[in-house]
Amino acid sequence: MTCATAPGKIILFGEHAVVYGRPAIAAPVSQLRATAVVEDSRTPGIRLLAADLGTDIQLDDAAEDDPVAAVVRQLQLAAQLARLPDLTITVTSQIPIASGLGSGAAITAAVIRALARHLGLAQLSSDEWVSSLTYEIEKIHHGTPSGIDNTVVAYEKPVYFVRQQPQNRIETFAVGEPLRLLVADTGQSSSTKAVVGDVRRQWLAETAHFEALFDGCGRIARQARQVIEAGDVARVGRLMDDNHQLLQDMTVSSAALDALVRAAREAGALGAKLSGAGRGGNMIALVTAERETAVFHALQQAGARSILTTVIPSTSPNPDYEI
Ligand code: MEV
Repeated sequence: MTCATAPGKIILFGEHAVVYGRPAIAAPVSQLRATAVVEDSRTPGIRLLAADLGTDIQLDDAAEDDPVAAVVRQLQLAAQLARLPDLTITVTSQIPIASGLGSGAAITAAVIRALARHLGLAQLSSDEWVSSLTYEIEKIHHGTPSGIDNTVVAYEKPVYFVRQQPQNRIETFAVGEPLRLLVADTGQSSSTKAVVGDVRRQWLAETAHFEALFDGCGRIARQARQVIEAGDVARVGRLMDDNHQLLQDMTVSSAALDALVRAAREAGALGAKLSGAGRGGNMIALVTAERETAVFHALQQAGARSILTTVIPSTSPNPDYEI
């Protein structure tokens, strides 16, 4: 039996603009995880069990776009294996689906890592391969993913990410002071593919306006990296507010997201914004330890379906390096 897990993620700065080549910053949410267990089976074929997705099927019967089956087929292709052994693959996840926390990417990454390890494919279970195979699957489900989600869930580190050719720029960076965040769910599900597709339509119709909005997000992400490194937590909060404004201008916020953002700020959060594709899903609020409880209650009162605290720990200053 082989088990592997992968975390959820939050986008701190730069969602949507990252699809158009601007920098973005994302971090793992390690307490929310997807888990995949691979076991040898005595019955023929590969059984895929994913209670959260309502799946219990044989690989051979699975549709082309079945999320778990697509992962197994992709790995088989990458490993150039003529056939796979008889297996049961069980997937579970604590990450809410369609909520901007990267549940799809995390499930994919966990299945790839568990299966690659179980089959003794050391190279394919490396972070780099898990990330790139997860990206291939993200393309099936999301159309034009930037690559940031697969990167964060595979490497499980905060990253500064720029989508570019021929290779994405992926850098880690020092965190001067810990960032304490409340992650609150609107309870409204949101399809990343639909929202990203709608932003594309708007960008095509109003290119200059959207390019200006993306430039603004890019400037904010670059500044955010500097102030995170410097440990200027108050300024990180103000940049989150500025980023939320630009996301509103892109029309990807919603009344429920705006209500949670407003409630968090009024209760003393240092800053707040939606996180991920938007139009539902989660928002994040940066808080001090002193204000955490007040902001938590304010989010509850404003209708948050669930709230969790996650801390991005400080790291000792170290030179940037490319992953
Ligand atoms: C989704 O987590 C973030 C988006 O920017 C899409 C992407 O980067 O692929 C909305």
